[in-house]
Amino acid sequence: SDPLTAIQEEILALKKERNAVILVHNYQIEAIQQIGDYVGDSLGLSYRAAEADADVIVFCGVHFMAETAKIVNPGKTVILPDMEAGCSLSDSCPGEKLAAYKEANPGLYVVAYINCSAEVKALSDVICTSGNAVKIVEKVPQDRDILFVPDQNLGQWVAKQTGRPMQLWPGSCYAHVLFTVRALEKVRMQFPEAPIVAHPECVESVRDMADEVCSTEKMVAFCQNNPADSFIVATETGMLHRLRRELPNKTFIAGPTDRCACNDCRFMKMNTIEKLRDCLRDLSPEIKMDEEVRKKAFDPIQRMLEWSR
Ligand code: 13P
Ligand code: SF4
Repeated sequence: SDPLTAIQEEILALKKERNAVILVHNYQIEAIQQIGDYVGDSLGLSYRAAEADADVIVFCGVHFMAETAKIVNPGKTVILPDMEAGCSLSDSCPGEKLAAYKEANPGLYVVAYINCSAEVKALSDVICTSGNAVKIVEKVPQDRDILFVPDQNLGQWVAKQTGRPMQLWPGSCYAHVLFTVRALEKVRMQFPEAPIVAHPECVESVRDMADEVCSTEKMVAFCQNNPADSFIVATETGMLHRLRRELPNKTFIAGPTDRCACNDCRFMKMNTIEKLRDCLRDLSPEIKMDEEVRKKAFDPIQRMLEWSR
């Protein structure tokens, strides 16, 4: 692979000095993915964060992911390159609104997609990721009515896979809902043999036309095991770096939207290589959390980690 740049070398030296581990989501820029100790999806990253024994966890992803790392491993200093790196999906379900809804509708079993705040996790019974959502929902006691928050697209997909009716919170990912059947059909005319791989945060019509719907991590395995040599990838563009690095002999085409040939998540892209260097140097911005909320948010995450082993 390519030699590292000066700033990447600087980051690795700082990492040693700080006794840090660099956890990286699949949507991060290539220069950050190249120097990650682990690059993966939300589920893999949660396990890695829980197991981390370094003093510092540098989380290259968005805020809820770094917050999850702090919840499962509170003794560590958890930093993220840009504190403003949020998530539209997480924002679509504020804690107060969920609390009010639960109060008005008592007895619901709340399954929360990990893309939510610590406050929302603290109000939930179990957490899931796109990688284990079907498995988690299947384990919810049969006599309970489920409320699934905050992603209505993932929730609708899981309800269909499991045959289990669920109330869906009306949230969505601003980036994934930009993929359309029309835009994907256009690119499929150019690559008629290429299977379409889509994230479950995409809308139903896009999921229905896809050959595979799965988490970012499972996309790697799917493309590896599928005999095709080209794939159309309907998820955030960072995923293409991961796929091209792991499967250099295959071709990956970014899923287009109606307006753009690819689809970046503006929050994921707030982390830059300079900000990563600065946060390791300054040990800031750091994730801090109310201990009461942290403890309440821990139980449903712990339940997920046990249920999905
Ligand atoms: P994955 O867990 O599949 O990587 O998804 C995370 C995410 O934010 C999707 O938008
Ligand atoms: Fe959130 Fe969507 Fe960005 Fe994932 S891609 S972090 S769900 S806004």
